[in-house]
Amino acid sequence: MASASASLLKSSLVIEKSEFVKGQSLLRQTSIVRCHPNAAASPLTVRASSSYADELVKTAKTIASPGRGILAMDESNATCGKRLASIGLENTEANRQAYRTLLVTAPGLGQYISGAILFEETLYQSTTDGKKMVDVLVKQNIVPGIKVDKGLVPLAGSNDESWCQGLDGLASRSAAYYQQGARFAKWRTVVSIPNGPSALAVKEAAWGLARYAAISQDNGLVPIVEPEILLDGDHGIDRTFEVAQKVWAEVFFYLAENNVMFEGILLKPSMVTPGAECKDKATPGKVAEYTLKLLRRRIPPAVPGIMFLSGGQSEVEATLNLNAMNQAPNPWHVSFSYARALQNTCLKTWGGRPENVKAAQETLLVRAKANSLAQLGKYSAEGESEEAKKGMFVKGYSY
Ligand code: 13P
Repeated sequence: MASASASLLKSSLVIEKSEFVKGQSLLRQTSIVRCHPNAAASPLTVRASSSYADELVKTAKTIASPGRGILAMDESNATCGKRLASIGLENTEANRQAYRTLLVTAPGLGQYISGAILFEETLYQSTTDGKKMVDVLVKQNIVPGIKVDKGLVPLAGSNDESWCQGLDGLASRSAAYYQQGARFAKWRTVVSIPNGPSALAVKEAAWGLARYAAISQDNGLVPIVEPEILLDGDHGIDRTFEVAQKVWAEVFFYLAENNVMFEGILLKPSMVTPGAECKDKATPGKVAEYTLKLLRRRIPPAVPGIMFLSGGQSEVEATLNLNAMNQAPNPWHVSFSYARALQNTCLKTWGGRPENVKAAQETLLVRAKANSLAQLGKYSAEGESEEAKKGMFVKGYSY
């Protein structure tokens, strides 16, 4: 009976609308179909599985491979400028190019790094000796990725919160990024605990991430889903846990509603920690306990990889916390997608001087290797420098 009515339903489906996405290398159609008027009135969406499905799964698995994680080097030009200013350099294209060249050409980086997130400028940029950055990464066995969001703006009607822009034109931009060699994408939105978070801000963040994820998959890019719960605030770890549960419930609700294929996404969560201004600090053991409890409650095992952001933790702290989470097997690859916690000592060591490039690349490799060991649960903080233990929290940090 059940199957008879199911086939009846199928045969009475009427195609109502089709969407043609320009600029895609493969012409595909997404059909929205409705039940016959005589049947139940609720719309039934049938989404052709992405013609990139197999490739998406493969890309996600490659990035989530044992002992490897992501180098986030997708600072917008404005944020890159702040980094350069901290070592006394001007924010010129030549200086950004020199720094990014240093990062992507670090010898042997691909042993520890499986993916690199680039800012749009870098996706189309060449190294100082004229090779395409993307080609250099691929040669290092590193998958190039691209930041596709257009940044945060105030969310009208909220408690002084923000929302993330970038959906307009995203399909054609994503298709162009794929052509340029990108195979995964990143969209970072934020949730603030001191400002609520309001139900509106959480819903908006989750919906935006889900739309972005569906569009990315349609265009062959594995979406990294990143609702960053900011470290700002003096709240304790239990409050972070409570907010994170709410945020991830909503994110997965909308990912499912948008027919996103979970096997072809990666997540980039914040670790569950106390607020940066909280008096009580949490040990790596406690951060791991809370964070893994959250993940087990909210993240389906179909998701291949959880790639944490560092969010202002010190380099050593971020590595110790990751290591604590990998002391027993997890259903997903639990790894890193750090920017500050991979780059900080490297940037300082470089200081903008050509004669320091080699030493700076070595410090990048030290951090990459430390996090690789942490991914395998085998890291020890013995011998770490004082610089690597310095926190990098900045209130209202943007990317
Ligand atoms: P941090 O590791 O510096 O928090 O960067 C996170 C991020 O979103 C970069 O892509």
